[in-house]
Amino acid sequence: MNLPGVKVLHDEAAIAARVGELGTRITRDYQGKELVVVGVLKGSFMFFADLVRAIDLPISIDFLGVASYGGNTKSSGVVQLTSDLSHPITGKHVLLVEDIVDTGLTMRYLLDNLATRHPASLAVCSLLEKPARMRVPIEIVYLGFSIPDEFVVGYGLDHAQKYRNLGFLGILEGAV
Ligand code: PRP
Ligand code: MN
Ligand code: MG
Repeated sequence: MNLPGVKVLHDEAAIAARVGELGTRITRDYQGKELVVVGVLKGSFMFFADLVRAIDLPISIDFLGVASYGGNTKSSGVVQLTSDLSHPITGKHVLLVEDIVDTGLTMRYLLDNLATRHPASLAVCSLLEKPARMRVPIEIVYLGFSIPDEFVVGYGLDHAQKYRNLGFLGILEGAV
């Protein structure tokens, strides 16, 4: 799909190569461990689907739904859990999968929330991080790409709920 106003940042091949590398590292690191890979909806859905196929282990998968309160209060860090995990994670190794860590506030909230359930371990895998906007430090053990402060869409990421179905990552020109 080619769209006016969207400039390619990382194409399908570059994404696939990076996802493959992350999957290989995760496979190595979680050998012999009971791993639950948790996707944060909606943004992570496409990355999640590709990533789990690159992990060569008998994993479980689960999902979390989150929403920022109101349209404009995202920076408040107040996050609402709209859909919880379907199974307990106590004693299990948990890998949280996001499409992007932007300010870090969503991830901070999720890490704090999941930690109270006493998983055996809790780590973050994010396709993207935007260092220019990071407000709270988040350790991303498995990172796809560090990106500039531009509005990125595609491969799960939206602008007003659109563009999620693009197979590549693009910059929405004139959006920031
Ligand atoms: C986006 C993204 C992360 C979060 C990152 O989700 O998918 O979940 O924002 O932002 P932060 O680091 O500044 O907290 P969004 O709330 O847009 O929902 P979506 O995944 O449904 O698009
Ligand atoms: Mn999201
Ligand atoms: Mg979004």
